[in-house]
Amino acid sequence: MASSMLYGAENVAIVRGRIAPNGLGFNGSELHGRKSLLPRVNLVVGNSNFGGRRRTLVLPKCSVSVPRPASQPRFIQHKKEAFWFYRFLSIVYDHVINPGHWTEDMRDEALEPADLHSRNMIVVDVGGGTGFTTLGIVKHVDAKNVTILDQSPHQLAKAKKKEPLKECKIIEGDAEDLPFRTDYADRYVSAGSIEYWPDPQRGIREAYRVLKIGGRACLIGPVYPTYWLSRFFADMWMLFPKEEEYIEWFEKAGFKDVQIKRIGPKWYRGVRRHGLIMGCSVTGIKPASGDSPLQLGPKVEDIEKPVNPFVFLVRFLLGAMAGVYYVLVPVYMWIKDQIVPKGQPI
Ligand SMILES: C[S@@+](CC[C@H](N)C(=O)[O-])C[C@H]1O[C@@H](n2cnc3c(N)ncnc32)[C@H](O)[C@@H]1O
Repeated sequence: MASSMLYGAENVAIVRGRIAPNGLGFNGSELHGRKSLLPRVNLVVGNSNFGGRRRTLVLPKCSVSVPRPASQPRFIQHKKEAFWFYRFLSIVYDHVINPGHWTEDMRDEALEPADLHSRNMIVVDVGGGTGFTTLGIVKHVDAKNVTILDQSPHQLAKAKKKEPLKECKIIEGDAEDLPFRTDYADRYVSAGSIEYWPDPQRGIREAYRVLKIGGRACLIGPVYPTYWLSRFFADMWMLFPKEEEYIEWFEKAGFKDVQIKRIGPKWYRGVRRHGLIMGCSVTGIKPASGDSPLQLGPKVEDIEKPVNPFVFLVRFLLGAMAGVYYVLVPVYMWIKDQIVPKGQPI
């Protein structure tokens, strides 16, 4: 029942895991996951607007975060494949890929909850790639205090060429095993990278570890589609988490005051049924110094382990096909936005 109450809610604010009011371009017309969203949610109380009346929702507890083994059919949720994917994608990433999914105004909206209020803050941008999100960070923080980390030297080579990022530290590394000491940074930012992590819980645990007490993590990532064809391609391609999964990963890692802000390209008019490559900005605060209370076993993926080149190629090609579908979706939505009169749902 809670799910049907939430569907169509314009202003959802959930205590502990909090879905914030409209992000950019989001008109509240859709809540992804609909029925599937809430039954496993760990959240306790929420407020929602229904026809102008505010109501309190009582939501059940989350028990998601089932491990997503690398064997599941998500072709690019794999470090080696992501590496090769970006070997080629880095050539067109800024000019061809980002404009359909991750615009400058979306980025600035998504970074707002990171609360970058001082130029002296120490910030790490994990999976920082070509530095597109870092360009938004250095508007608020001195570049010399910002580290861009990525596993792709090809992506980082693009970041190195950007004038405003000249003073940033730029390093190769793995989001699931960060080369920073515990209690190092004031802010952890990661945009559009979690979808490639074989073990997202481990990456979020690392975010917790490297932050100082009172530090804030801001993780921007995809949201899961509800439309069947988009779901098919999303499942084939990479990790599109549900909102409650983000919340659970953050809470399990030890974060407090976990909140989600929905974002999306303006021309989608709030439509979320196809999922979004950049669909939400999740934040949480580290309440105590030291390591995360969450204990994890060994890493699920051993990057050094040899892979069968044929299997690798097939997985890579299938993943690339799914990627093409998600290049076409924003174009389709853009055409609809041009055709359907403003103010009407698309
Ligand atoms: C979609 S790009 C996002 C780049 C940038 N954050 C932005 O906002 O444009 C995803 C990036 O995550 C990186 N990545 C994927 N898996 C990673 C991992 N395990 N550790 C570090 N970086 C990773 C990729 O190499 C790629 O540069």
